[in-house]
Amino acid sequence: MAGEMRPRGAGAGARRGPGARAVGGGRFGGGPGRGRAPDGRGDDPTRVACAHFPDCVGCPLVGTTYGEQLRGKDAALLAELAAHPAIAPVAPERIFGSPLPFGYRNHAKLVLRRRRTREGRSEVVLGVYRPGTHSVLPAERCRVHDRRLLPFLVALRARIEESGIPIFDERNREGALRYVLARVSNESGAIHLTLVSALADPAGLDRLVDRLRRDEPRLEAAFLCVNPTPGNAILSPDVRRIFGPRALLDRFGRLVLESRPDAFVQANPGVATRIYADAERWLEPGPDDVVVDLYGGVGGFGLALAPRVSAVLGIESSAPAVDCANGNAKRAHLRHVRYLAAPAESAVSLVREQAPLPGPGGRLLVVANPPRSGLSAGVRDAIGELAPARLLYLSCHPATLARDLDALAGGGLALRRIRPFDMLPQTPHVEVLALLEREDAPHTEGTGERGAPAG
Ligand SMILES: C[S@@+](CC[C@H](N)C(=O)[O-])C[C@H]1O[C@@H](n2cnc3c(N)ncnc32)[C@H](O)[C@@H]1O
Repeated sequence: MAGEMRPRGAGAGARRGPGARAVGGGRFGGGPGRGRAPDGRGDDPTRVACAHFPDCVGCPLVGTTYGEQLRGKDAALLAELAAHPAIAPVAPERIFGSPLPFGYRNHAKLVLRRRRTREGRSEVVLGVYRPGTHSVLPAERCRVHDRRLLPFLVALRARIEESGIPIFDERNREGALRYVLARVSNESGAIHLTLVSALADPAGLDRLVDRLRRDEPRLEAAFLCVNPTPGNAILSPDVRRIFGPRALLDRFGRLVLESRPDAFVQANPGVATRIYADAERWLEPGPDDVVVDLYGGVGGFGLALAPRVSAVLGIESSAPAVDCANGNAKRAHLRHVRYLAAPAESAVSLVREQAPLPGPGGRLLVVANPPRSGLSAGVRDAIGELAPARLLYLSCHPATLARDLDALAGGGLALRRIRPFDMLPQTPHVEVLALLEREDAPHTEGTGERGAPAG
């Protein structure tokens, strides 16, 4: 998922800019709010009371039944593809719904702000940006976060208030604490906290962290990210460990993936597990095949495919993510997997210099999972030059996916299967998996099977 360096609610989906239009914008049977009961609860079991309803805009579909959300996302993808004649003939398979429509998100990224209440008191808010503005809406009790994060976030806000550590004020650029990242492991329940501060050594930080450790025994590690820069980027490369292990372990089916505060990991483990499993089913890797995992992150795709192929070469621009990916391969005893810290644009020379050739009868298989902007022209050219037998493309932005599929079709890679996944329920975002094949390869049929609860 891209836009990951922005607080939830500050992303394109919430802002309803062109990104939101890509799926959903007004196509959910009347759009957000339709079918919403007056108190925001409704009689549908997949609707829940949200403490921030109706002020928070991070989940514009929260008043829509989950079944309607899924149908809206199916329809929106179909509409997006219809505008691209080269790919339109391949009908998308039905969406795979999230096993958890709420409580699915393994991390929270929230902004800290000090504001004045109606009664004139000053208070700390932990929340998301109101779309298109820099005003902050409270979201500490957000229901899409993993339930284990909720009490922690509520206590965290209170402890930060109590600590007296100055909250960053972007108007005069004074103060320290700016953002909070909290992650929970679906394997162990351990929580890792990152406090982002404009100052390198805010007074009272150690006391705050001690207090949090006493409150929450599951707090396994804390980090300080020093980010004095202007702009919306939450993290800077300056991430310092306060205590605890650097890596958090998550489980995605049979994969165990370590990640760090500054390394991307898929937000919804239930849905990501299914995507990694479908990668294996769709690509049908063989023992002599070689996989190139572009935009590989902490190695999810490469490690899912590794047991079935002769070698995996991963290419990922973030050095912390590459460290995690290689650590993940080592933990799984997969010696034929290697991730390199490099731009995907350099794939052709890296593959030629560093990837073993496929064995007799083996094929080159490429996976690409770029950020919202999709494949750069350089990466599209590189894929054309590598001429993989199959390309598996996971996208978090159907509009850039459709553009890229069009371009790749022109280069001889034909779309064979395409399926949406609901990685971020309650929001208009949709993740899409596409399988492409060299035109001269035999055709692969889709199953059209349906995913989890459609409501
Ligand atoms: C959507 S994430 C994909 C992560 C991974 N495939 C997974 O399943 O967890 C996109 C990744 O692309 C990386 N990235 C962004 N631009 C890149 C580029 N030009 N070359 C290589 N990696 C890039 C980001 O650091 C991020 O880890």
